[in-house]
Amino acid sequence: MDFPNNTIDDIQSDNGWDKYWNLAGTGGAFSSKGTEESLFKQQWFQLFEKMLAQTSKVRILDVASGNGLLATLATSYFNKRAISPELYCLDSSSSAISSIRQRLPKIHGTVANANDMPYESNTFDLVVSQFGIEYADKSAITETARVLSSNGEAMFICHFRNGEIFLQCNQQLEIIKCFLESDFLNYCQDAFSKKVGLNQKNTPLSEFKKSDQKLRSAAKKVHQILTKYEQEPASQTLNLILADISVMYKNVNAYRKQDLFVWLQVTINEIEAYRFRMKSMINAALDGSAVGKMVGQMLDLGLEIIQVKPMRFSQEEKNIAWLLHAKTTTTN
Ligand SMILES: C[S@@+](CC[C@H](N)C(=O)[O-])C[C@H]1O[C@@H](n2cnc3c(N)ncnc32)[C@H](O)[C@@H]1O
Repeated sequence: MDFPNNTIDDIQSDNGWDKYWNLAGTGGAFSSKGTEESLFKQQWFQLFEKMLAQTSKVRILDVASGNGLLATLATSYFNKRAISPELYCLDSSSSAISSIRQRLPKIHGTVANANDMPYESNTFDLVVSQFGIEYADKSAITETARVLSSNGEAMFICHFRNGEIFLQCNQQLEIIKCFLESDFLNYCQDAFSKKVGLNQKNTPLSEFKKSDQKLRSAAKKVHQILTKYEQEPASQTLNLILADISVMYKNVNAYRKQDLFVWLQVTINEIEAYRFRMKSMINAALDGSAVGKMVGQMLDLGLEIIQVKPMRFSQEEKNIAWLLHAKTTTTN
């Protein structure tokens, strides 16, 4: 059972996000060790408040919605004000959309590419996206302008190249890379198999000892990596996995052989999905020039720019994300 190193290299053609959402449950795409979420929330609430000052009937499209983090935020904001917005979520991952359909049945979930939105022109008061639209190509901006209604607004929070989140993703990727290079999971699979064999008297003791020794030295390497980066989310996740593996290895007899290997495969898939997510976020991050092009395209499409800025907590701190806010130009 080799770790499938080559399955996630081509970020665009791979259905890695779908694999990720299939495993992610209700968690979002981005969990950080910081408090960035509060900054984003504040920004969205300002937008919703502005919207409510103009109308109480709001139709919102969340582009590349994942499993509905932003739609959930919008729902709770509007519901507290006794308003039920019409919410649409679009994502290319069917697992993400099916999670929305199960958990949030009032939201219209659509599996589609943001580059080709299956909606009528002039449909939405708001088109929003949090770490989503930058994964699609520039047609997604053209589509946004098309589906926005005549008084509509679009607001996007996008990954910032070399910003705080970008650097965090790089750090997590580095930890995962070191972990995989230790070959721990392959040694683990081998040692599990030999230990089961030993107990069933199919494997000689000497063979088991060899495997066990290899596993122990790989585990040592892994512990060194995780100690070095102990505060990082990837290390915390890997530590939990290691703890589970250790319990299972000590009590191999308590499990069915088949269950042990299925569990190991699921663990491998989860690590793969995590690595994919980090790589994908890094890939999608925008630098100033990419944002400049996006703004130019919006202007060409007749949108008016309300605000474009890097988001950060204070002048002294690193940028976290880009904020792009535009609206349909009204011709009198
Ligand atoms: C980082 S996740 C963000 C999800 C969500 N906005 C959130 O904050 O949790 C990026 C999402 O973009 C989706 N995606 C990537 N390319 C896309 C495309 N061309 N069209 C639609 N969705 C896309 C992925 O499936 C994934 O759910």
